[in-house]
Amino acid sequence: MQALILALPKAELHLHLEGSLEPELMFELAQRNNIKLAYSNVAQLRRAYQFNNLQEFLDIYYQGAAVLQTEQDFYDLTWAYLLRCKEEGVVHVEPCFDPQTHTDRGVAFSTVIGGVSRALADGLQKLAISSALIMSFLRHLPEQSAFLTLEQALPYKELITAVGLDSSELGHPPEKFQRVFEKALEHGFLTVAHAGEEGPAEYIWQALELLQVSRIDHGVRAVEDEKLMQLLISEKMPLTVCPLSNTKLQVFSHMSEHNILAMLDRGVKVMVNSDDPAYFGGYLAANYLALAEHLPMSKVQLKQLAQNSIEASFLSTAQKQPHLAKISQL
Ligand code: HPA
Ligand code: ZN
Repeated sequence: MQALILALPKAELHLHLEGSLEPELMFELAQRNNIKLAYSNVAQLRRAYQFNNLQEFLDIYYQGAAVLQTEQDFYDLTWAYLLRCKEEGVVHVEPCFDPQTHTDRGVAFSTVIGGVSRALADGLQKLAISSALIMSFLRHLPEQSAFLTLEQALPYKELITAVGLDSSELGHPPEKFQRVFEKALEHGFLTVAHAGEEGPAEYIWQALELLQVSRIDHGVRAVEDEKLMQLLISEKMPLTVCPLSNTKLQVFSHMSEHNILAMLDRGVKVMVNSDDPAYFGGYLAANYLALAEHLPMSKVQLKQLAQNSIEASFLSTAQKQPHLAKISQL
């Protein structure tokens, strides 16, 4: 199973670049930028990665992102992630980044997007990994802050494919950002949104109907609403599911309880992603392996998950074709 997991061409569609900041790099950047961390070493920091819910994770995650200061820092972060992708047979990535996490502490938007996009361009040239970048709005911040971020992004429009919505879900429904997403759609951005991770199925409805999303990030609580399930199936709406994230943040109490394969068998377009791999215990292959270990996953199901990842990506039909052909041969 492990050999097939690695050999299958895979796309990663739900990955927070700030969530790929490994403790080792965090300490290196802290030293480079003269920042004092609240932890004295890597082991102590890793021990703090115990979360009872999304908010407990987010509090540590935003704290960690503070070491990212210069264009080179954002390059190094993104490049380290791409190197992991190369090792694991990930052929295409659609990572997201949170500009407000950085601009709110005085780092320029141009610094962030400069480093990230330079690494993604190198990823294509040197590693043959294609990409599309997603800019996420922090939903715990006001609508006005998202509008400002959208404006800051406009000069870099060619570098950004879609806008997204992340951070604390409960109490911050998609409808709060309907007007911002309308504006983003007018500017030609595609849209995605985290919904139905901790929030109810109602938030998935809102993301579909008010934000006109191309994909739902997480979406695992859709199973609580049969009418919604029917719609997701008939519309082939992708759900970017993150197994290790869901168990780390206690959305499911154990991997054996995860609903991804049940949804797959019902015809929902689910696929596997790593979300915040530096915090949740593994990159894409580790997520597949965790599923294979705790759920009865067949080769057919595994191949379907990889196929869904390519099909649900923002690649063109022609760009998807060679990856899909390789999957069918394996
Ligand atoms: N959910 C919401 N916001 C996030 C996540 C997540 O899984 N990861 C990073 N920001
Ligand atoms: Zn996420």
